[in-house]
Amino acid sequence: MLSLERLIPLASIENSLMAITLADRARSAGFKVLEFTFRVAGAAEVIRAVKEVHPELLICAGTVLHIEDARAALDAGAELVVSPGFNADLVRFCLDQGAAVLPGVATPTEVEYGIRMGLTRLKLFPAGVLGGPSMLQALSGPYPGVRFVPTGGIGPGNLLEYLSLPNVLACAGSWMVPKSLVASQDWDGISRHLREAILLVR
Ligand code: 3PG
Repeated sequence: MLSLERLIPLASIENSLMAITLADRARSAGFKVLEFTFRVAGAAEVIRAVKEVHPELLICAGTVLHIEDARAALDAGAELVVSPGFNADLVRFCLDQGAAVLPGVATPTEVEYGIRMGLTRLKLFPAGVLGGPSMLQALSGPYPGVRFVPTGGIGPGNLLEYLSLPNVLACAGSWMVPKSLVASQDWDGISRHLREAILLVR
């Protein structure tokens, strides 16, 4: 599923109508995946509303820290549960539900937690702070079967460096949906960021 899309815009939006507008803009720019984080209240309602209008969009639920939030995200129609850290209970819950899960890792030990639970796709977070592309290159040696979705500190200046690595499946990030433009509802500005990001990877 994730292999179809290499770029995942990430947004923290409480308002369903604004989230639908963002989804409209993302679709027009050519995106097929969006991530809405549980850093804000009402994230499950946002996901449900966006899925109603855009059932074709693959929706990731981001910053999921608790099983109850994973349950709400999946009930709302999210296709992938993403967490910043490695929470084995959350991973087990998602696997038991037959749901796709992308837990965050920051160390080889955590990569091995993932491998032990049968995962071959992991989020690397916060990628920039952890060494960025050189951390990913270092992880490719001992873990050739694992592919990563780095997030944290990625932007137009370093995106292609990440995506050129064989063990990088996709990159996610908030730079494509700047908070300030969401706050001012500058949808044309957001469209520009989204289109620029898509052009970079084409
Ligand atoms: C995440 O939750 O994946 C990160 O906060 C994204 O990091 P960014 O804001 O630096 O893109």
